[in-house]
Amino acid sequence: MPDPKPESILIVCLGNICRSPTAEAVLRSKLADAGLGIEVDSAGTGDWHVGDPPHADMIAAASRAGYDLSQLRARQIVPEDFERFDLILAADPSNLEDLERVRPAGNSTRAVLFAPYAGRGVDAIPDPYHTGDFDGALDLVEAACDGLLSQLQ
Ligand code: 4NP
Repeated sequence: MPDPKPESILIVCLGNICRSPTAEAVLRSKLADAGLGIEVDSAGTGDWHVGDPPHADMIAAASRAGYDLSQLRARQIVPEDFERFDLILAADPSNLEDLERVRPAGNSTRAVLFAPYAGRGVDAIPDPYHTGDFDGALDLVEAACDGLLSQLQ
């Protein structure tokens, strides 16, 4: 049985200033283009950047590709997110491990890796905060969004 279609999706990375806000904006844009009314949000497992806008280089890379990240602000994942969202997508395996520690007892919301949706045989979106490759992160995020979208349609 295929998984039921989610009505809401949360994308999670570490700081919520690079990968997940990019995925939030790209997925929101592609869902709107496809006419799919699915709520999208993003969060970080860490709290270092709560309230901050995305990284300036991430905003710039996304802007060159036509996505506006400038109004987004970082927040940290909370246990209630597991009740609020139907699907939680992690930017890399350590994010998945970390977010599982926030899951309330008894909750069974689907939480999986995001990168495999790109169909490139990778399980992680490399963190541009450390690699410096903001365009590469955006490219992989776009491919993963396309793969996810084709499953939702
Ligand atoms: P992100 O990147 O998880 O894609 O938002 C990071 C941003 C900040 C930090 C780590 C990763 N940090 O350690 O502050």
